[in-house]
Amino acid sequence: MAVMRMGYVHARVTDLAEAKEHYANTLGLYETHSEPGKVFYKGWDEWDHHSVVLEEGGVGVAKFGFKVEYESDIDAIEKKAQDFGLTVERMSAGDNLEVSDGIRFTSPSEHVFEVYHSQKVIGTEVGTHNPDAFPRHLVGVGVPALDHALILAENVRKMEDMFKAVFDFFPTERVQTDLNDDDAHFIASWMTCNNQIHQIAVLEGEQSKLHHFAFKLDNWDQVGRAADLFSMDDVPIDIGPTRHGITRGQTIYFFDPAGNRNEVFAGGYPAYRDRPINKWTPDAIAKGIFYHARELNERFTTVYT
Ligand SMILES: [Fe+2]
Repeated sequence: MAVMRMGYVHARVTDLAEAKEHYANTLGLYETHSEPGKVFYKGWDEWDHHSVVLEEGGVGVAKFGFKVEYESDIDAIEKKAQDFGLTVERMSAGDNLEVSDGIRFTSPSEHVFEVYHSQKVIGTEVGTHNPDAFPRHLVGVGVPALDHALILAENVRKMEDMFKAVFDFFPTERVQTDLNDDDAHFIASWMTCNNQIHQIAVLEGEQSKLHHFAFKLDNWDQVGRAADLFSMDDVPIDIGPTRHGITRGQTIYFFDPAGNRNEVFAGGYPAYRDRPINKWTPDAIAKGIFYHARELNERFTTVYT
C-alpha cells in the first residue's frame, strides 16, 4: 500500500476567532499549534501533529494532504502523476509545519494535493500504554479523527481515473447514468485505498470547490449527541441526523461559521478491492444521498465553498 489515508485538509475561514469556537469548542478538536492567521488541530484519536489547518481569508479548501507509508512511495507516486499528465512539484520538509518533504500537484478538478511520508508524531490523547477507551474530559462533540472529504469537479470520471492511477484508490460506490460503465456518465464517485468506505468523493460540479469535509464518529448515539450539541451551540444544521443510502453512513451535515459544510459520519461498511461497486442511477439519487427523506434539499447541490 502506498497512500495510507487523507492526512490533512487546509480549509479557509473568514474569521479565525469564530472558527476556533466551532472547531475547538463545539467539535472538540485539539489545538496543536497556532500562529497569526492559522491554527492547527488534531482529533483526540489521531497521533500525527495535525489533520485540520484553518487559514484565515476566504472560504473553501486550500489543499489536501495524503500520507504514504514509505519515503520511496513519494518517487513512485510522482512518476505515476507525471504519467497521468499532471505537473508535479517537490515540496520541502517544513513547507508545512511538522510535515516531511513530498510532492504537490493540482488535480484535473483544480484542487491542490500534497503527498508526504511523515509528520511529527505527538500521540493520541489516550496514548499507547494501557490506553483508556477515550479521554475523560472531551470538549463538545469530541470528534476522534478527520474522516473524508467530498469535492466538486467538472469531470468525475477523469478524477476517478486519477485517483486510481496515481493513488491506487478504488471506487466503492458511484452515481452513474447507466449501469454499463462504458455507456455511463459518472455523476459522483466514492473512493478509498483501505477499509474505510470512502476517503474522498467527487461530485459533478464547479471546479476547485469543496462540498464538505467530515469527522468520524462511532455510532448513531454519537451522531444524535452531536446534533444536540449543535443546537446548544447554534450551529446551522444542513440536514440530519439521517443515513446515507450511499455508503450506509449515519450523518449530519452542518456549517462552520464561514459557511464551509462539515459532516459527522458514523458507520458505513468495510471496503474491499474485490467487492463489486454499488451503482446508483439518477432515479434513486435522492434516496442514495438522504436515505430517510428520499428527497434532496436544494442546498445539497447549490451550496458549496
Ligand atoms: Fe461525506
